[in-house]
Amino acid sequence: MRLVLMGGSLRAASLNLRLSRHLLRELEARGHQVSAYTGEALRLPLYEEGAPPSPEAQALHAALGEAQGLVIVSPEYNAGIPGHLKNAVDWLSTMRPSPWPGLPVLLCAASPGAFGGARGLMAWRATLANMGALALPEAITVPHADQQLDAGGAPTDARSAAAVPKILDGFLALAARLR
Ligand SMILES: Cc1cc2nc3c(=O)[nH]c(=O)nc-3n(C[C@H](O)[C@H](O)[C@H](O)COP(=O)(O)O)c2cc1C
Repeated sequence: MRLVLMGGSLRAASLNLRLSRHLLRELEARGHQVSAYTGEALRLPLYEEGAPPSPEAQALHAALGEAQGLVIVSPEYNAGIPGHLKNAVDWLSTMRPSPWPGLPVLLCAASPGAFGGARGLMAWRATLANMGALALPEAITVPHADQQLDAGGAPTDARSAAAVPKILDGFLALAARLR
């Protein structure tokens, strides 16, 4: 399948970027073609009604239009969606054709905190539902990610390590059924 992965923060040492790299490898190992949008690719101009989307926003829109699923790997900022990711989603919600209705989405998060970014994913669910995207009920969360991600981004704690393949496979099955 053709998939898009979007996530990480803008900083080079982003834990979510590290987790993204691991998930990208896992998806590719299962034979999927993944376009990754991380770091600078997500530094879009702030959304302004009437302003044309930047070439970077257009590239993301085109990739999502061809994708059978989206993997979001999001930091949690103040129990919500970080501004750069929300900004990207807002651009994408105004572009036509809308890539969101019926799009299967897997939510993932890593945080140094004990909840692994799970509260931020609740905010994602509200936004995705508003646009008609279909978020998988399960999510990948990595708590204490500053200590529990190896150099390649794989979770080292038993719960998260076991959850990754199980939830990825569940997401891929959903995406295959829907498209
Ligand atoms: C503005 C801001 C707000 C934050 N709020 C939360 C929060 O609500 N919950 C949480 O678990 N971590 C919070 N954090 C800590 C982030 O989870 C942590 O900085 C994490 O490493 C950011 O993701 P990254 O490593 O991918 O950059 C916050 C960090 C910043 C900068």
